[in-house]
Amino acid sequence: MLIRHKKPSDVASHEITPESVYLDRRRFIQASGLIAGSMILGAPAGQAAVMPAKGGQFADVTKGYRKLGENDTPTPFESVTTYNNYYEFGTGKEDPAENAGPFKPQPWTVTVDGLCAHPGTVGFDDLIKPHALEERIYRMRCVEAWSMVIPWVGIPLAEIVKRFEPLGAAKYIRFETIVRPAEMVGQRSAHILPWPYVEGLRLDEAMNPLALIAVGLYGQPLLNQNGAPLRLVTPWKYGFKGVKSIVRISFTEVEPKNTWREMNASEYGFYANVNPKVDHPRWTQATERRLGGGGLAGILEPRRRTLMFNGYEEEVAHLYDGMSLTKYY
Ligand code: MTE
Repeated sequence: MLIRHKKPSDVASHEITPESVYLDRRRFIQASGLIAGSMILGAPAGQAAVMPAKGGQFADVTKGYRKLGENDTPTPFESVTTYNNYYEFGTGKEDPAENAGPFKPQPWTVTVDGLCAHPGTVGFDDLIKPHALEERIYRMRCVEAWSMVIPWVGIPLAEIVKRFEPLGAAKYIRFETIVRPAEMVGQRSAHILPWPYVEGLRLDEAMNPLALIAVGLYGQPLLNQNGAPLRLVTPWKYGFKGVKSIVRISFTEVEPKNTWREMNASEYGFYANVNPKVDHPRWTQATERRLGGGGLAGILEPRRRTLMFNGYEEEVAHLYDGMSLTKYY
């Protein structure tokens, strides 16, 4: 697949501001006339506006965490939304963008259950509305050794966890993707993955300020191929931890069985922390190719060194004190 990238010479430096990216996108949306009627104005401070109409922008997003390195330029919107892993829509990188059209991310409910004080089923707006939306620009590193920089919109997972009050016995959090074979072509085959796609975190990982429940990127709601209407983002872990289109969140005492480890425990672990010192059996983890850095995806992308914990060591290394970092998690 050919992806149009900015040439490195088009980008002055790492100082390119995400705002300029937004403005370009926004102008494009306005030019297409898609934004009319999609913004909810005057949402109370600290309260997210309801989901804008397709193609519209979120009305009220505050700037959250951003710590970008040299040359961490946001990956172009087109690459983020056309080069995807979402096996429910097929195993090719272009399949999700091509096949996710019929999927309906609204209306949407999430069931919260297990070891918590307030189990129940909540609508998307009720889940998101009480929280301020933040924009977080994170690196994303896939275990397949490619990476992106994505301006997400979302809310800290810790805020949601606190709302449902996990009980003392809860040690983990488990997430499940929707099962809807009529709209998800990959789910019509039992040979791709066992459905639903499941992921999990230790509760203290879920409470880390970096863990995000994303509802958008580049200022607008997630497209189906990126996990609409809500997905997990844990930037210090390999991308497969970022479970998409979540319908169930459970608090558990035992470590959840995440899908890829169930498929192949010799290649995928539970923790899956980005670690350049431990290669995956099929991919080096020492380096990565940054999509959007020029060249053809998969062929001529420039390679760069992968950072421990994907560059978030300061924020998360303490979570793994005493654990061996020499084996592939
Ligand atoms: N979630 C579900 N439900 N199904 C998937 O196949 N793929 C994972 C993760 N979440 C996947 C998923 C993998 S391997 C990666 S790298 C990221 O989603 C990719 O996210 P993106 O396509 O938004 O870049």
